[in-house]
Amino acid sequence: MSTVYHESGLSPEAENIHRALASLCEELEAVDWYNQRADVASDNELKKILIHNRNEEIEHAAMVLEWLRRQIPEFETELRTYLFQSGSITEIEEGEQEEGSGSNPPPASGSLGIGNLKQGGSK
Ligand SMILES: [Fe+2]
Repeated sequence: MSTVYHESGLSPEAENIHRALASLCEELEAVDWYNQRADVASDNELKKILIHNRNEEIEHAAMVLEWLRRQIPEFETELRTYLFQSGSITEIEEGEQEEGSGSNPPPASGSLGIGNLKQGGSK
């Protein structure tokens, strides 16, 4: 994903979002790799190292996700809705739909819902 653009002429903001999304994918893939290796490592010290490394990749993923949240308002909306909740995740979505939600309207005019990319830009 890191070098694949699906469109040309992207704005610098969209290019940076692409970089962040690619990085998020790579960090999550690394979490999976370390998690699998730790799961099967027969040496206990190696297992501890691999778990440590997995956890660092989780930190990296969280940092990039936070950057994305600051760039794309819909990430903010969805993360506020779904993260740190208890109970059934699917029931949260059902609750959102039942509200008929003015809090999460669909994007206007067929946009991708990226919102104002300059809003909350680099700090
Ligand atoms: Fe990483």
